[in-house]
Formats: sequence, structure tokens, C-alpha cells
Amino acid sequence: MKTIKLVSLLLLFAMAANSQEKKAIYLDDTKPIEDRVEDALSRMTLDEKIAIVHAQSKFSSPGVARLGIPELWMTDGPHGIRPEVLWDEWEQAGWTNDSCIAFPALTCLASTWNEDLSLLYGQSIGEEARYREKDVLLGPGINIYRSPLNGRNFEYMGEDPYLASQMVVPYIKGVQQNGVAACVKHYALNNQETDRHTINVNVDDRALYEIYLPAFKAAVQEGGAWAIMGSYNRYQNQQGCHNERLLVEILRNEWGFDGAVVSDWGGVHNTMEAIKNGLDLEFGTWTDGLTMGATNSYDNYHLANPYRELIKKGEVGTEELDQKVRNVLRLNFRTAMNRNKPWGSMGSPEHAAAARKIAEEGIVLLKNEKNTLPIDLNKTDKIAVIGENAIKMMTVGGGSSSLKALYEISPLDGMRNRVGDKAEVVYARGYVGDASGSYNGVVTGQNLSDDRSPEELTKEALEVAQDADVVIFVGGLNKSQHQDSEGADRLGLDLPYYQDELIRKLADVNKKLVVVNISGNAVAMPWVDEVPAIVQGWFLGSETGSALASVLVGDANPSGKLPFTFPVKLEDNSAHSIGEFPGEDGQVHYNEGIFVGYRWQEKENIEPLFSFGHGLSYTTFKYGKVSADKKVMIPEGKLTFSVDVTNTGKREGAEIVQLFISDLKSSLPRPAKELKAFKKVSLQPGETKSVTFTIDKSALSFFDADTHEWVAESGEFEALVGASSAEVKDKIKFELR
Ligand code: BGC
Repeated sequence: MKTIKLVSLLLLFAMAANSQEKKAIYLDDTKPIEDRVEDALSRMTLDEKIAIVHAQSKFSSPGVARLGIPELWMTDGPHGIRPEVLWDEWEQAGWTNDSCIAFPALTCLASTWNEDLSLLYGQSIGEEARYREKDVLLGPGINIYRSPLNGRNFEYMGEDPYLASQMVVPYIKGVQQNGVAACVKHYALNNQETDRHTINVNVDDRALYEIYLPAFKAAVQEGGAWAIMGSYNRYQNQQGCHNERLLVEILRNEWGFDGAVVSDWGGVHNTMEAIKNGLDLEFGTWTDGLTMGATNSYDNYHLANPYRELIKKGEVGTEELDQKVRNVLRLNFRTAMNRNKPWGSMGSPEHAAAARKIAEEGIVLLKNEKNTLPIDLNKTDKIAVIGENAIKMMTVGGGSSSLKALYEISPLDGMRNRVGDKAEVVYARGYVGDASGSYNGVVTGQNLSDDRSPEELTKEALEVAQDADVVIFVGGLNKSQHQDSEGADRLGLDLPYYQDELIRKLADVNKKLVVVNISGNAVAMPWVDEVPAIVQGWFLGSETGSALASVLVGDANPSGKLPFTFPVKLEDNSAHSIGEFPGEDGQVHYNEGIFVGYRWQEKENIEPLFSFGHGLSYTTFKYGKVSADKKVMIPEGKLTFSVDVTNTGKREGAEIVQLFISDLKSSLPRPAKELKAFKKVSLQPGETKSVTFTIDKSALSFFDADTHEWVAESGEFEALVGASSAEVKDKIKFELR
């Protein structure tokens, strides 16, 4: 009897202990996150700590199985959810449940200048990530557009730090509402693909703070990003993934970042720096993972065995390790261990509609003479569509952003679907560019091989174009090497594959020629004066064809504006005139300093092909006079500008009203003007809205590298309101006192 009592008592004790264990602080989501982090940390062994700061597979890092702390799963990013890859290889795994909606490229999102659409984008892609049970989305990308040759510009948000800052914040919030972390990339100064692992960027502090960092700062401080990805390149001779200045001094100490720093894949090169300089999670160190080097290469990552050895030998302490573990745990509590996160959804009609809406609003009408567009289907019998990009799938290829899309509507199919039997739509290829169509095992299924000679293809195109009521040439760049693609830069500004010649010939045989340029970069357009209408189409994702058709026939009134300057020629861009691109002997000097994009063109009075902020509509807008609520602003105060904008045309449309600030007298050279606010307003025909902008002294400040401070100097300023950087409608002076 006594023994039975004793056993029951022991059992009770054990149960009580067990239920205490269940109430462990780190598992209790009613407890503050920092308490949970410390509690989990205190329970972990050295080996468990080492394990969670580096990858276990291509896209995952281990949890702490003993403690029920889950693994972390990452996915590219930034335009859709990357298909599942093999544990240890880049090759897709061949799952049949991982096809996604391809959203438009981030250049297109930036061109909408619509923060609500950025939120919608983030929410939608975040839902897809969540449904695929991912914890971290590797995106968005916000490296500044320094040169039109950067092969990855299509993954970024343009040349202006203010526009990129405004557009990145809602995307992050939208993603993170799903319990999925946005991992903002590539921090920082990753502005070219040439020598991307070795190039050392030399940039002055003023350009760093005024041009290259603001979007990252906004992502951290306003967007509340839970993760950030270090860049491949070097700065001050240290890799971006273990860079003391960027990661410790600026990101942590100046900005107070409390998320996790994730390396770019294969971006870690030095164990001691990886320990000391702010990296939390190491990924992709050997491209072949387990299969190269030792039996288990993941154990040989810098933050694995080599780290453990250094600790064991007493050469480094565990203070840095604990800090890394804290950051990784915090990321885990916010994502994988967040019990309140939604389930997500994938491939839904809502996501398709979001992709289409963003595409329609991001398409930019660059030129439209004699009302060539929209195409009036009541007066059109025959539409000729010419060009490879009218049929080529663009969601496959281009590097890590490559997708396995549920579907992709081509421009030609989009036109055919929309036009129906109202007109005949005929097609000719015109040129053969890139007939391939696969990326890491994902294939488009298109057979684009065509053995005809350029002469034969041109002849056919001209014949088809000749008697059409309107010709739509769909060309531009594609996702192959040296075009809009990761891992290499473009070799020049020109369109590839004799497209310039073909466009000129088409213009000769048919005056009603519309050129649709599909690209993520500016291209030269030597035929600009010979063509009445030009549309900037971007990489638009699943809904490419339907969005383009909407704009071309006028169901949607274009309202996108350029997020970067189109220079006439390469030398008009500052990186290629006084700067360096792509640098030499492992060094690139950003000699142009703060004068990037329109800041340079305006300083040098160089006429662009199309200016930053440019974009037309099928309606017209009239701007009234700009007024200010006061003439004098004090440093602690605010100033509000107002301007009336009227839709003077016959259809509803949206205008992006832009506010630039000019410092009329300054102790340091400043750009002629800089974007400091914008608003997108939708107006019915005849309708007028008053648009207001409120600024504070941050809109007037420059970064003083000597004192390491933002300075707003008292004196005279001017506020310029316009429809683009080149089309200022009115301006008003004010004083900072
Ligand atoms: C790219 C990153 C990407 C990562 C994982 C790298 O090569 O630079 O942008 O997220 O691979 O695919």
C-alpha cells in the first residue's frame, strides 16, 4: 500500500513538473517577447546555439528540436514565392503544389507611386508565403538605381531615395501582417552585378546617407522589418554580410534594428568578421551545400564548427553568439512561433486581381502623339502585334527571382482575349532573341526556336504591319544573361537583336506604331521621334497580357510614372560619366557622390529621354497656383503647401502630383531639387481636388559628413510642384529661420 502511495505521489510530482514545463516563459505568448527570448536562450546548449545561426539546407535553418522551437524556412522573393528547391541544390524539387501568382516586378510597383498598392502587394505575396509555410520572404529589394546597366534593377524601386522609402514601408507591413518576415535586401551598396562578390564600393558618407541608405532606414524604422539581408559586395574592404560600419554602427547602433541579419547566399567569407560584425544567420556558403568539401558542409560554415572551435579555444567568448541567438529567436517568435498568424492563401482570384491592378497602375505611357492610344476597337479592323516579347514568358529566368507561375498571360494572348471578334489580331515575331525557357528545372514549356534569318523575320513583320490599322511592337529586354538578370550586368544601353532597326522599318511602313518596351531598365530609343506612342511595360508577372491590353485599348487609364531617368545615352548617366561602372581591380568609386539619376542630369543640364517622374494619361490635368500656409518655417515647425489639380479631359484618370524642394543657397553643393512628397489623386472629368503636402525640416536637410548630422540651414528655399521632375507647374519660395 505504502509503495502505491509513494508511486502516485511521485507521479503527481512528475505531472506538476511537466505542466510547469509547459508554462515555460519562452512558450507563453502572453509574456513579453524579450522575456521569452532570454528564457529560451538560458535553456540552450552551446551546440544548439551554434546550430541555429547557420543554415541546414539551401533555404532553411534548424530550430531547437529538444525545446520545440521550430525551424525557419526562407523563400525568394521578391515578386512571388520561389518554387521549392531540393534540400541541398538550387534545382527545383518538382513539387506540384508550389506554383504561385507572379506579381509585377518591383520597378513596376514603384511606378505606381501608390502606397496602398504597395500594401496590397505585401499582403498578397505575404499570404502566398504563409500558405507555403514560409517564415521569411527574401525581399523586397531596394538598392538604388545607379546605372541602367545593373542587371538587377528590375528587382528594385528606382533611383530616388524618397520614393523608394515611401514604397518599401507598406510592402513590409503587408508581408509581416501574415507572420512572415520581410528580409529587405541587399544591405547595402549592391548596385551592380559585375564582380558582385568582390567589388569594394568607395562612396562618400554624404552619398551613403542621402542616397543609398534612406530606403533601408525607412524599412527598419518605419516598416519595422524583422530581417535584413547583407549584401555580397564589400564596403570599406569588408563584405556587406559582415560589415562593421553598416551592420553594427549604422543598422544596430544608429537605427536600433532588432531583427535578424541574414547573409546573402554565399556572402560570408571571414569567420572572425562574421562573429564580430553583426551577422546573425549564415546561408549558402558553399553553393553545393552538403555535396562539396567535407561530409557535411553545413557544419563547416563559418558560423558552425570554425566558430565552435574558436569558442572552445577561448579565442572568442560567447557574448556575440548569445546576441545572434537572441536575434534569431526574436525572428522565430515573430514568425514560425507566432501562434496568431493567419493561414495564408495561394493563387486566389484576389491575388490575381492584385497583380493585375498593380500592373495596370505601374505601366507608364511615355509618349502618345495624335491620340494613337488608346486603340478604339470600334474603328479598328486589324491589329498587328510584332515582337518576341509579345509571346515570351518572362516569369522564368533572371536569377533568384525566377518563378514557377500558375499561369502567365502573354501580351499577344492578352490582346486576343480582350479584342475578341471586334478586330483581327495578327502576329509576326520580327526577331529571335532568347529562345530558351528554363531556370533550375522550371521550364516554360514554350518552344521558341525559329531558324529563320533576320531578313525573313523582318520581311514577314513588315508585311503583317503594312496594312494593319495599328501596329503594336512588343520588345525590349528579357531575363537572359547581360539583360535584366542576376549575376551579370548589361553590356550597353541599346536594345538587343536589331530591334532598333526593326522598329524604324516598322515606322516606315505604318505610321500608327506603338512600341511597348518590356524591361526593368532604361533603354536607348534612337527612333523616339519616328514613333507616335511608347509604353513602358516592365516585367508584369502572371497578368502581363491582360494588364497591357487594358491599357492599350483604354479600359485602364495609365497612371504610372517613371521611378528612374531614361538617359538618351549611357554617358548622360553620372555613374558612366564622372563615376565608375563597374570599376577596376576590385574597386568602384562612386565619384558622382549624391548626383545620381535626375540629380545629375539637372545639375549638368542634360536633357533626358524621359525624366524621372514622367508618365502620361489619356486625360489631361491642369495645375493651379501653389500656396503655402506660411512664408517662414521654424526648425521645429511644419509647412503645408496646397495646389488645385483639375481633370480637364473627358475621362477619369489619376495624376501623381510631385513636390520637389530646392535649397536656394547652401554651404554645400545641393541638387537643383529633390523629391520630398507626392500624392496620387484620382479625378473625374472636370473634377478639381486640392492636394496638400506637409513637410518638416527633414525635407530641407542635407547630411553633413564632417559633423555626421542632418542639417537644415536657415535661408531661402523653393517648393516646386510638378507632373514630373522636368515638368514643374508652379513654385513658391519660403524661408527657414
Ligand atoms: C541573391 C539573393 C537571393 C538569394 C537566395 C542570392 O544569389 O542575391 O537576392 O535572395 O540568392 O536565392
